[in-house]
Amino acid sequence: MRIFIYPGSFDPVTNGHLDIIDRASKICDKLIVAVLINRSKKPVFSMEERVAFLDEILEGRPNIVVIPFSGLLVDFMKKQKATTVIKGLRAVSDFEYEFQMALLNKNLNPEIETLFMMTNINYSYLSSSAVRELAAYGGNIRDLVPDIIVDRIYAKFRSNE
Ligand code: PNS
Repeated sequence: MRIFIYPGSFDPVTNGHLDIIDRASKICDKLIVAVLINRSKKPVFSMEERVAFLDEILEGRPNIVVIPFSGLLVDFMKKQKATTVIKGLRAVSDFEYEFQMALLNKNLNPEIETLFMMTNINYSYLSSSAVRELAAYGGNIRDLVPDIIVDRIYAKFRSNE
């Protein structure tokens, strides 16, 4: 069984993430969307909120599971019997960071592969941080994240004021 892993902060999940999740789930038997718990920078959305958003959006997708993780990705992958990391690449600017992570992970566990998918051109400008910034200042995020979380994202920033 080919188990792939798509790790990230998903703070919050965007349509760009979902495009990669969709496509990745078609080339493996099981896709684990791994939500990073511990971070030096505190996320805007709690782990519970980030996982709940993904769970709701991905409901009814039999080969996709959403699991929080902390610590090293390679350790989590071993526990989950995952062989391959899926990452989305948007622009050249993503490359340096992703290259470093892929090599570090390979160094930690040579059996792990990292596969890069080119983002859909429509989402090449999209990031969670851009969604947060727009939402915080009342900008339009409607085409950037799934409909069912739009209002909850706005509400979060209103409650933080
Ligand atoms: O959405 P992000 O914030 O770009 O995701 C980054 C993520 C979760 C993929 C990365 O921070 C990660 O894998 N963290 C776990 C710790 C780890 O294994 N780091 C890589 C080796 S140093």
